[in-house]
Amino acid sequence: MASDAPAAAGRITPAALLARKGKEPIVCLTAYTYPIARLLDPHVDLLLVGDSVAMVLHGHPNTLGATMDMMVAHGQAVMRGSSRACVVVDMPAGSYEDTVENAVACAQRIMRETGCDAVKLEGGVAIAAQIAAIVAAGIPVMGHIGLLPQSVEKEGGYKIKGRSEANAEALYADARAVEAAGAFSVVIEGTVEPVAAEITRRITIPTVGIGASPACDGQVLVTDDAIGLTVDRVPKFVKEYAHLRDIVADAAAAYAKDVRSRAFPGPEHLFSLTKDKA
Ligand code: KIV
Repeated sequence: MASDAPAAAGRITPAALLARKGKEPIVCLTAYTYPIARLLDPHVDLLLVGDSVAMVLHGHPNTLGATMDMMVAHGQAVMRGSSRACVVVDMPAGSYEDTVENAVACAQRIMRETGCDAVKLEGGVAIAAQIAAIVAAGIPVMGHIGLLPQSVEKEGGYKIKGRSEANAEALYADARAVEAAGAFSVVIEGTVEPVAAEITRRITIPTVGIGASPACDGQVLVTDDAIGLTVDRVPKFVKEYAHLRDIVADAAAAYAKDVRSRAFPGPEHLFSLTKDKA
């Protein structure tokens, strides 16, 4: 299926983001739907169609519930709703770890069916061959190191990274592997601040932090967290810029009251026998 999204001509490119290393911070938010993409597009440099969609919109307990079909459908919606931001779509768990061939085929499907600008994969040294092969196929890649949500079951929970010297060294190796494989930038998630800052100093591609460091070359948040729509626990690294939870609940309560009292619909919402506007 071909993408019916606006042409990519006016979009911020992965190459332009790469050139922002050490310069103006890269602004990134997640987007999964057409209306949210439309609202965020004028304000951000990068829209991430994260596999967090499995949790945030579909109610799965973790990101392992994301599928290729899910990522493609949400990627298409975000492309239709945006024309300026660089759009990156997450490769879901199971679509790239096993073989380089499958990784390239799945990345090609995401690009072909969404028309997005790049894909994102979780892991460093362990998936450097997959990143290099996808890049060699002409597809820009964003890396993702530190806390890897797709490894939550393997690791027995969400564990902050970089607290021991050995783990910090492993993260530096991951960052260098992602850079050497040709990624244009890398997300650093859930990593102690000094290590995230040091990774940012050590590599030549932009780092985009989430629960990482203000020294990163950019920041990303899950939009639903940032606008206060998250109904469960809000993570420590999140700053809520609005409280839409309360606004939605208040609106639903007001609507229910109006319906029950027959205050809605009012005369202004009704059609008469004479011709009037819809
Ligand atoms: O899936 C996602 O939303 C992400 C961000 C948290 C970086 O990968």
